[in-house]
Amino acid sequence: MNWLIKKAHVVDPKNKVDATLDVAIKNGIIRELRKDIETPNGETIDGNGLYLFPGLIDLHVHFREPGFEQKESILSGSRAALKGGFVAAVTMPNTQPPCDHQSVIDNIIRKANEVPFYLFPAATLTKGREGKELSEMADLKKAGAWAVTDDGTWVSDALLMRRAMEYASMLDLLVISHAEDHRLAGGGVMNEGVMSTRLGLKGIPAASEVVAVSRDVILAELTGARLHVTHVSAKGTVEQIRLAKQKKISVTADATPHHFSLTDELCAAYDTNFKMMPPLRTEEDRLAICEGIKDGTIDAIATDHAPHTAEEKMAEFQDAPPGVIGLETALGVTLTELYHKGVLSLSQVVNKLSREPAKILKLPSGFGEIRVGTEANLVLVDVHEEWTVKKEDFVSKSNNSCFIGKTLKGKAVATISRGTLWQKQF
Ligand code: DOR
Ligand code: ZN
Repeated sequence: MNWLIKKAHVVDPKNKVDATLDVAIKNGIIRELRKDIETPNGETIDGNGLYLFPGLIDLHVHFREPGFEQKESILSGSRAALKGGFVAAVTMPNTQPPCDHQSVIDNIIRKANEVPFYLFPAATLTKGREGKELSEMADLKKAGAWAVTDDGTWVSDALLMRRAMEYASMLDLLVISHAEDHRLAGGGVMNEGVMSTRLGLKGIPAASEVVAVSRDVILAELTGARLHVTHVSAKGTVEQIRLAKQKKISVTADATPHHFSLTDELCAAYDTNFKMMPPLRTEEDRLAICEGIKDGTIDAIATDHAPHTAEEKMAEFQDAPPGVIGLETALGVTLTELYHKGVLSLSQVVNKLSREPAKILKLPSGFGEIRVGTEANLVLVDVHEEWTVKKEDFVSKSNNSCFIGKTLKGKAVATISRGTLWQKQF
């Protein structure tokens, strides 16, 4: 199929493009990018008043297949992602069975081919995510894994983590750390502080994250592994990463829209849509995350899209599973909270949601940029459209969002992914 996108404001910081241009796409490939293209060959999309970004890339999603398809399948998750402006995502391995075997990766890649979406699976770092024995990283890489992580279960054995990082480094696999010292976290269900005391809920100290990040950074320095600290929630973590970067240790980081825009005050109504790991923390933490995003300490924005059914989330706060969905609101929250409030420019928004994730994953050219000769992976964005997040509008199988009822400013209006126009909302 051919498309001509007319007069969209193209924002591509990698190639230093920030101008109103036309984009001609033929057979899924970007063929021309310049002013006033006149090829009435195919469908014309009026980009007037809209921005064109490289397609968004999410470094952290849970698509629940195999094992928990009632929460989300690869198909439903990919559709939710496409609606949100994403063209690619890294899937976490806490499925059932866990993604520690070639067959699980094969299945993910095969299913992803049913929609025009890219999945880059993260495999487990230890067998069964049990933290005891290393996974077969070389085989997993060969099967198509792009990263290794045990996500929710931080590897507490430092020697095992050292060995994991040595292997990952040899194989050039990204090591993703959900940094959480479980003994320190102590079975808590929200941030430890004034709010947890007031609500009578068991708290998780920020130190449980900072301690874990510090160890992982030291091991990254020792082994030379590429460490990526995901969903940063605490001020102390931002400080640790800033220091590590000053020391030229190969560490990158992401933060989620909920952690840079919300605080633990929202747990006051015991609404389980504000329960996730790591938990929402204080205003001081939130501001430190925003500062880290602004100064580059935090490279990327990732959703930690973690669907759970309404029945599961209906439980009491301490019993409900942690996690919130995020693919359909990430761009809107980022534009509302960071762009419209003057924290980031649009180029920086593109960096955080597309260019940096592509760089961190070492994706080939065409991801995180808009380049002639590469496959079209793009998103058309209306940065001014105001819309209210409604439970019933989610494409995801689950609706456990912490932004329900919020009015956001900015939305993906069309996503072109794998050279295919997925959705048009104008
Ligand atoms: O909130 C979370 N949800 N944190 C995790 O680490 C796991 C995730 C999930 O799988 O639901
Ligand atoms: Zn996690």
